[in-house]
Amino acid sequence: MAQFRLPANSRVKSGKTYPDVGQAKNIKKFLIYRFNPDLKENPTLDTYEVDMDSCGPMVLDALIKIKNEIDSTLAFRRSCREGICGSCAMNIDGVNTLACLKPVNEVKGSVKVYPLPHMPVVKDLVPDLTNFYAQYASIKPWLESKTPPPPDHERLQSKEDQEKIDKPSACIMCACCSTACPSYWWNSDRYLGPAALLQAYRWIVDSRDESTGERLDSLEDPFRLYRCHTILNCTQACPKDLNPAKAITEIKKLIAHRRH
Ligand code: SF4
Ligand code: SF4
Ligand code: FES
Repeated sequence: MAQFRLPANSRVKSGKTYPDVGQAKNIKKFLIYRFNPDLKENPTLDTYEVDMDSCGPMVLDALIKIKNEIDSTLAFRRSCREGICGSCAMNIDGVNTLACLKPVNEVKGSVKVYPLPHMPVVKDLVPDLTNFYAQYASIKPWLESKTPPPPDHERLQSKEDQEKIDKPSACIMCACCSTACPSYWWNSDRYLGPAALLQAYRWIVDSRDESTGERLDSLEDPFRLYRCHTILNCTQACPKDLNPAKAITEIKKLIAHRRH
């Protein structure tokens, strides 16, 4: 599938350059968005030259090398380094993805690195995800039960029922999808966006959950759900190969079916 690309942010002016001063033969340039709210200055795109012969293969490896060896003021999030925690999500070469899973050699020419688009920036590559997480909490991402559990065993599921939640449960809430969604860009105060809606779907189809009706009621709203216009950027952006657009369509179908 063709990768969805975001328009290059041409309004960011070039900033400092950090040339490699050694004898390196395998130099890669990284153009990195820099913004420090404390300085009260416009953001810049700073240039770093990295010796790839002494660097790991992924964009996150290069960012860590830059921070350790060239410029300790660079801010970014990361934790697991293996595509599990979701914290290194950023926009690399025009595409939202995880820096720890993005090989440097997949990018031709200089590597442009921006924070996730259309989010407030805390500093450099760190977006403010407060609203994103509040929206996630709003879908009640936990099992809601009304009946007591069986006395002698857990609430069990059939294999078929487990398979319905298997894929959506693999979402790492990295926000690559929501921040690639034009509807979310313009209405993130009221539209839940594909990540939160995929998680809503995960609990709606969980055979053990007993609040399906209430969950659908809370989504039946022109903004919370129906701002999705099936543009599919979200599914193209997901680094875990999930399909939030399909989940949103399924929620719409469930709501439509119960009307008839
Ligand atoms: S399919 Fe819906 S959620 Fe996904 S990018 Fe399009 S509008 Fe956004
Ligand atoms: S659906 Fe994919 S892109 Fe969206 S938050 Fe989950 S893992 Fe990230
Ligand atoms: S560092 Fe955890 S997903 Fe990249």
